Amino acid sequence: MPDPLVARLRAVGCVFAEEEAAEIRRVLGDDDSAADAVVAARGSGIPLEHALGTALFAGIEVEVGPGVFVPRARAETLIEQAVALRPEARVIVDLGTGCGAIAAALASRLPEAVVYAADLDPLALTFATRNANRYGFTVHEGDWWDALPPALRGTVDLAVAYLPHVPTARLDEIPGDYRTHEPDLSVAGGVDGLDPLRAVLVDLDDWLAVNGILVTLVADEQLDAARAVSYVRRVHLVEG
Ligand SMILES: C[S@@+](CC[C@H](N)C(=O)[O-])C[C@H]1O[C@@H](n2cnc3c(N)ncnc32)[C@H](O)[C@@H]1O
Repeated sequence: MPDPLVARLRAVGCVFAEEEAAEIRRVLGDDDSAADAVVAARGSGIPLEHALGTALFAGIEVEVGPGVFVPRARAETLIEQAVALRPEARVIVDLGTGCGAIAAALASRLPEAVVYAADLDPLALTFATRNANRYGFTVHEGDWWDALPPALRGTVDLAVAYLPHVPTARLDEIPGDYRTHEPDLSVAGGVDGLDPLRAVLVDLDDWLAVNGILVTLVADEQLDAARAVSYVRRVHLVEG
């Protein structure tokens, strides 16, 4: 028998009603009144992950909530490629950690590494701190590298960063639920979308260890420009 939750989600405009119903059941079980509250939240345009307070990312579950960037499946490739490129990494940094999803996934995959997560947004860091307590990494507030303990300079084996990279003219193409409920700070990348990458590259060589690398993700159409700004640097660009 079809789950009536699917019909309720569809009635409030959810296109992927089956998938959303399955996720609601996974998190809430048979608690129908809690499920009703999530359906109402979806009807008012709140992203499912914000309504549930949780997101699946790279095989783990992380806490996330209103006003904080929701981890995206497309960024999971950063985890795969980073782990493949530097399985021996011992000092790992997640720049622009948001709720800490990338740091959490890396701490899970590379348990011998020490993982540091940094972000400028204190609200995001409240969620990152909860995920840090669960997955074992530390959380630091500040502007890109400046957030990190100074003693890490020259020691970072692996920096992973899912940076804001949406060009100004394309911000309105972000799906409405997310555009309304995630901060500009988490998505806006300036005119060509690469301002955050440029900012991170300024001090990259000071922070990386001799064989350290930065693994970051840009949109397909940004690859050439990102290669140009990353010229002669130790940067692995991932398309997504
Ligand atoms: C695209 S989101 C990625 C969040 C997280 N890594 C994830 O994958 O879910 C980019 C993040 O960069 C952070 N950010 C933006 N500007 C920053 C800055 N100057 N210094 C540190 N973090 C910054 C935002 O607050 C946001 O959490």
